[in-house]
Amino acid sequence: MPGVGDGLRIDRLIEADRVHRTVYTDDMIFRREIKHIFGRSWLFVGHESQVPEPGSYFTTRLAGQPMVMVRQRDGSIKVLHNRCGHRGALVVNARMGKAHKFNCIYHGWTFDTDGCLLHVPLESGYEGTRFDICDPQFGMPAAATETYKGFVFARLAGDGPGLVDFLGGAREVIDHLLELSPTGRIEVRGNSFRSIYPCNWKIYLENLHDGVHPKFVHTSSVVASTEVRSGLKSSASGTEDDDFVLGVIAANGQSFGDMDKLQVNAYPNGHSSMRGFREAVTRSGPFETLRKELAERHGAEKSDEILARNWHNMCVYPNLSMHPGFLQLRTLTPLSTDRTMVEVWCMRLVGAPDEIYRRAVMYANTVHAPSSVIKPDDLEAYQRVQAGLQTDSAQWVSNHRRAGREEIGEGVKTDSALSEHFIRNQYQAWAHYMSETNDA
Ligand code: FES
Ligand SMILES: [Fe+2]
Repeated sequence: MPGVGDGLRIDRLIEADRVHRTVYTDDMIFRREIKHIFGRSWLFVGHESQVPEPGSYFTTRLAGQPMVMVRQRDGSIKVLHNRCGHRGALVVNARMGKAHKFNCIYHGWTFDTDGCLLHVPLESGYEGTRFDICDPQFGMPAAATETYKGFVFARLAGDGPGLVDFLGGAREVIDHLLELSPTGRIEVRGNSFRSIYPCNWKIYLENLHDGVHPKFVHTSSVVASTEVRSGLKSSASGTEDDDFVLGVIAANGQSFGDMDKLQVNAYPNGHSSMRGFREAVTRSGPFETLRKELAERHGAEKSDEILARNWHNMCVYPNLSMHPGFLQLRTLTPLSTDRTMVEVWCMRLVGAPDEIYRRAVMYANTVHAPSSVIKPDDLEAYQRVQAGLQTDSAQWVSNHRRAGREEIGEGVKTDSALSEHFIRNQYQAWAHYMSETNDA
C-alpha cells in the first residue's frame, strides 16, 4: 500500500489524475491533514457581524482545537485559544454571547477579552513559584488573525502568504457578494444548521462543483418536484413560495449540455468557484427594489451587470464554502477520517428587502436542512463512497474526467462543471501542504 507502512510517502498517494484510496480512510493521514492543512493554512472562523460589539464572542473549533472569536474594545477582532491557562478547562462554553471578562468556572481565573490573565484567587499561594500573572503562557493565546471584507480568518501555526494572497482569485466571489448589497455590507444572522456527514471531509468538497452527479443522485426529488410543480400550475393552486422551492429542486435535473455551459474556476491553494444553474435573481418585487437600490449606488448599467452575475458554490480551501446567489455560508470541520461536520448559515444583504433574506432561509431549508429532500441524496452517495473505499480490491480513485483540457490562465484554471479539474486542483494544494517536512 503506497504511503503507509514504511512511513508516510505523500508523493506516492497523489497522481495528476488519481488519488490513492487511503487519503480518505487512513487515520495517520487524517492526523497529518489536521496538523499540516488545517493547522497551518488560513481557516475561516466567522463573519465580523457575528461579534457586533466589544465583548461579543463566538466559539468554534479549528483544526480540532477550541477557539473563541471576540470583538475587542478598540473594534478589532481576536481569535483566542479557548483554554484556561490554569488546568486547561474550556473558558467560554456558550456558542455565542457577550462578556466583559471571561471567567473559568473551575477555579475562578479571570481573563480579559484579549486573552490576558487578569486575576487568580489565592494569589499568595503563588508567591515564590514560577507562576507570573503577566506571563502569556497563563493567558488565552491569540492565533494570527486577518479579515477580508468582514470575513475573519485565523492561522494557528506556521507562516506563509497573507490572507489576500492566500485567497487569490477566489476573492472575486466575496467581492461580488458585497456588491450585491445596497450598503456594501452583509451580515450573518442567527444560528446554523449543523449536520454530521458520514464521510471524509474531502468527499464533501469534491462534490461542490460536480455537475454530473445531480442527474443521477437527485433523480427522485427532481421527478417528484417536476410532477408536483406542473400539477400546481395546471390547477393554479400553488403559491409563489411553492414554485420557488419546487423550482430549486427541479433545477438539479438540467442536462449535461447545460452543465457544460457552467464555468468552474480553480484557483491556487485549492480554492474554486462555479457559475450558478439555479435562477438566484428574478424580476420579482424584492429584486426590482434591490435593482433600484444598487442603481443608486453603482448606476443602472453596473447594477444590471452585478445582478446578472450568478455564482453557485465556491470553496475557500479547506474549510469555507459559500453560495453568494442564495446567501449561504458553510463551514466544514473534519472530525475523523469518516465524520465531517458541516454548518450552514444564512447571510443577509444589509439594507436589501427582507424578502430576499426570507428566500435565503427558504433555500437553506430546501437544500440543506436535515429534513431537505435534496441533502439526504448527497449524504447517501458520500456514505457509499466512504464504505466502498474500504475495499482492498482496487487502490485508486479516479479524477480523470476532462484531464488536461482545462484552460490555464494567470492564477486560474477554467473548464466546465463536467470537469474534475477543481478536484485535481484541490489535490495539488493537499499535496503541497501535506508534503511539507517541517513537523515543528
Ligand atoms: S482550570 Fe480554569 S481556573 Fe482552574
Ligand atoms: Fe448534490
